[in-house]
Amino acid sequence: MCGIFGIVFQKEHEDLGRIMVQAAYSLTYRGYDSVGCAAISTEGRIDLRKDIGRVEEVDGKYGLSGMRGIRGLVQLRWATFGVPAQRNSQPHLDCDGDLVGAHNGNVINTISLREQFSEEGHTIRGENDGEIIVHAVERHFDRLSDLPGAIMAAVGDLKGDYAYVISHQAENAIYAVKMGSSLYLGVGEGFVCVSSDLPSILELTSNIVTIRDGEFLRFSWDQYQLFDIHSGQPIERRPERSPHTKESAHKGGHAHFMIKEIREQPEKVANLLHFLEESAELPRFTEALRKAGRLFLVGSGTSYHACLVGSYYFNKLAGLAAIPVPAGAMVEQYGDSLRPDDVLLCVSQSGETKDVINVLNYCERRRLGQALAFVNVLGSTLSMRSRNFLPLVCDLEISVPATKTFTNQLVLFLAVANALAGGGKVNLQAIPGLIEDTLAQTEPRIRQLAQELLPVNDFYFLGYGLTHGIAYEGALKTKEVVYNHCEGAYSSEFKHGPLAIVYPGYPVIFISTVEDAEMVSSHINEVSCRRGRVITVAPPQPLLEKYSSDFIALPVEDYFHVPIAATIPLQLLAYYMSVGRGIDPDFPRNISKTLTVD
Ligand code: BG6
Repeated sequence: MCGIFGIVFQKEHEDLGRIMVQAAYSLTYRGYDSVGCAAISTEGRIDLRKDIGRVEEVDGKYGLSGMRGIRGLVQLRWATFGVPAQRNSQPHLDCDGDLVGAHNGNVINTISLREQFSEEGHTIRGENDGEIIVHAVERHFDRLSDLPGAIMAAVGDLKGDYAYVISHQAENAIYAVKMGSSLYLGVGEGFVCVSSDLPSILELTSNIVTIRDGEFLRFSWDQYQLFDIHSGQPIERRPERSPHTKESAHKGGHAHFMIKEIREQPEKVANLLHFLEESAELPRFTEALRKAGRLFLVGSGTSYHACLVGSYYFNKLAGLAAIPVPAGAMVEQYGDSLRPDDVLLCVSQSGETKDVINVLNYCERRRLGQALAFVNVLGSTLSMRSRNFLPLVCDLEISVPATKTFTNQLVLFLAVANALAGGGKVNLQAIPGLIEDTLAQTEPRIRQLAQELLPVNDFYFLGYGLTHGIAYEGALKTKEVVYNHCEGAYSSEFKHGPLAIVYPGYPVIFISTVEDAEMVSSHINEVSCRRGRVITVAPPQPLLEKYSSDFIALPVEDYFHVPIAATIPLQLLAYYMSVGRGIDPDFPRNISKTLTVD
């Protein structure tokens, strides 16, 4: 997954390089194997500087911040096609250097196109699919001498999901294409820009134009024109003020985005509840769920763990069976049995996760199942292509490990289950306060525990029933930002094998409700009698406390609140262990915030 940014000014801008580097930093979470900037002068001279390494390294080596010009392109790369190398860094030039372009996404027929274009005489400099896009446009441009026409024709060559920007040295404009990967347009004072994500645009303007898949646009410093990429028909769409704020893209005095986003959970839950109070969407959403033949809950990573908990909320509160499925498994596991009246509730904070979009594509192609969504980023592919969606109302989540969006996914599942059950079954308004109390009451002990567990490289998280999804989530947080090998599992399963791992002092973290205490205490005993270290996260309960080495008390009484409260100490544990190990929890190695590749 990568990030692209393009901007056009009215005249040469001495700050172009700084603005491009600022955009590059903002897009770092999307890719950091390499970075490149192309600055184009009024006369059309293309100054292209790019290499492997992080933004600060490449800026220091090539002086990106000092670049000048009237328009510019930026690309952050997370390697898929082509090893991290300068030749595969983006942006790319065409054969004779008058076109420059960069992309985000995956052109899956890159290898065959490389061979074809080479045979046609193109100078292909690397293995990267972004370069292939530039040559695809070039070959049609050479034939048509018309860049919009070349862009439309190139769609026929390129297979996969992608978004790209491209510019000709002789035209003071940039073209941008959206075909399955995220792309946003910002209209500012004296400039227009596009980017793979909102934060990099919000730094400059809040006037956002939504771009949909199958559209491309031409923009200069003071205007833009959208077109349908297949018919060439112009599309009128006016800018709208983004509901997201630039502040959300800044740390607000916190050491990391992760701790900022953990601490703002009470406020974000309250915002979501306010939205739901006034929303006309909720009744429509629950109506669609009631009519479902079968209901699937589909998500990846942390969002899938929310689906695990959501399935218990739907079952226990509304008597509705909901099947949680990892997005990447959905088509293989249930695709052939899907029926038109099946409903797939797709859960995704970014709304761009490829595994989820693949499910959407499958359902649309087969006209089976209708897609509903819980999504955070408005204007994202999932928010535009689902039949109906409820927003997470978290504002932007920058840190790669999901925290506030996970909690709001749980709250949304609980609110929808409550509505399905006729309402009044759960006290939703109490949730912001209980998160606040949980943060205050558990953080001191969690900070100590993080120090105690720093030397430990693997441990288990166990949950039962309603809390088992939280065990999986606690394990994932620790894997993501501590690089520990941790597993989440159903506590009744632990004795069927994994118990063999336990040695004296081996930490096992249990999450439980009071209602499950009797069952869970027997699972705790299986560990404690082998002198494993039992750390239990639960509301106060004598049985659970008695057999635990450490007891992290949750200030909650309502059974349905436990998963939401229990998540907080586990997020904090992962965060403090990460910082204790000198890891940057916001941008952990190997992973990224949104994966738009298979
Ligand atoms: C992964 C992220 O790439 O995608 C996880 O690292 C995230 O944090 C998962 O949970 C799903 O992302 P989304 O945007 O679909 O919720």
